[in-house]
Amino acid sequence: MTKAAAALLKYSSSDQKRELANRMMRQRVARASLEPRSDPTTPEAAAIPESYYRLDLHPAYLNLLARMAELEPPDIGGVPYFRVHQGLVRDTTQIGGLEYISFSNYNYLGLSGHPALKAAVAAALDRYGTSVSASRIVGGERPIHVELEGALAELLDTEACLAFVSGHGTNVTTIAHLFGPKDLILHDKLVHNSIQMGALLSGARRIAFRHNDWQMVDDLLQRHRRHYERVVVILEGVYSMDGDFPDLPRFVELRERHKVFLMIDEAHSLGVLGARGRGIREHFGLSGNDVDIWMGTLSKSLASCGGYIAGSRALILNLKFNAPGFVFSVGLSPANAAAAFAALQVMAAEPERVAELRRRAGLFLQLARERGLPTGSSKGVSVVPLIVGDTKRCVALTNALLKRGIDVQPILYPGVRERAVRLRFFINGTHTEDQIRWTIGIVEEEWRRFGGRPV
Ligand SMILES: Cc1ncc(COP(=O)(O)O)c(C=O)c1O
Repeated sequence: MTKAAAALLKYSSSDQKRELANRMMRQRVARASLEPRSDPTTPEAAAIPESYYRLDLHPAYLNLLARMAELEPPDIGGVPYFRVHQGLVRDTTQIGGLEYISFSNYNYLGLSGHPALKAAVAAALDRYGTSVSASRIVGGERPIHVELEGALAELLDTEACLAFVSGHGTNVTTIAHLFGPKDLILHDKLVHNSIQMGALLSGARRIAFRHNDWQMVDDLLQRHRRHYERVVVILEGVYSMDGDFPDLPRFVELRERHKVFLMIDEAHSLGVLGARGRGIREHFGLSGNDVDIWMGTLSKSLASCGGYIAGSRALILNLKFNAPGFVFSVGLSPANAAAAFAALQVMAAEPERVAELRRRAGLFLQLARERGLPTGSSKGVSVVPLIVGDTKRCVALTNALLKRGIDVQPILYPGVRERAVRLRFFINGTHTEDQIRWTIGIVEEEWRRFGGRPV
């Protein structure tokens, strides 16, 4: 602005000032439109490849597009993911207005949609609203959190428990908080992504051992234990892709002999193993003290959303004040806490639900094996895979089964290696015997049609 214009502005009325400012703006715009447009890019920036600053050129995105294109041909039938389910999913589901028998959801005990859970959620909403609107450490603590954690600690025979807003986040934040660069994490090579992400974030050395191979862990510990400060062995209670489980007492013995921590993810074993659904501890008759870190999710048998860690008071207090995914994240919503708490109560009052689930899953596995279907190492307690070993064939089979009235999902790379690509059947206690027998018949027919050979 020139000195004259500034002086004029200073002594003018507000209308005059506005008029003057507008005129100056119009002159500036007119001048700018006559000037040649300059490229704002610096010479250094001009040399940067487009894929470094364009999201539509991100390598993971391009890779995804290529993989999706491979599934488009009519004989394969397109990407089978993100199907929209139009109501409650238990033994059956509705997709596109049609009814299917569903094996794509882990509503193991059929508690999602149960009247007691719906009533508990409605009461919690009424009392506490839809959100606790703060991290629990500063203002998000509610009685329902304490009740839920108390019930889980009692069920798992531990001193304490802490509930988180996400199962995945529970593993990531707990493992990354407890372990660091001077530590060693030994985990089964089939553990869930959340465990692997937590291990990566921790900066600890990471070794994956052969699936369920406690002898290999013994050997690794004999060679490596002394080179590290803290060492943790991480397992799952039931493996989510394979449906088998570890010989936990063997690992407990290693824990004591080598002075290491033992952590177990019970996402798929809570509500599934043990006479009362108390998980792998109950199955093997162990005590809560035999494992240092009991992890689980609220999203499977407990028909809610979130995760938990149970263990000693020291562990829980440490996480409660220090784990970033707990301290810097909102508290579990009242509705989710209430649903999980009510699910625990129904499970305790109706243990026959657990028995029913295992009978159904056992029947599914038995019939599949009788027909020569390749079900891997599944123990038939909740998850039964059908190993196909080829992405295109697996997706084509998925889509063909949908046409025959069966909703089941494929597990592809990177979820599993290419030769382990599979269909994964989640069995739940509400599946009837007839539904299972009928499904196995159709699956066998379609699997043979797509070149399957009995094992
Ligand atoms: C073994 C295991 N751990 C953790 C998780 C993450 O739990 P959530 O889906 O509740 O976040 C899953 C999810 O399926 C899982 O299978």
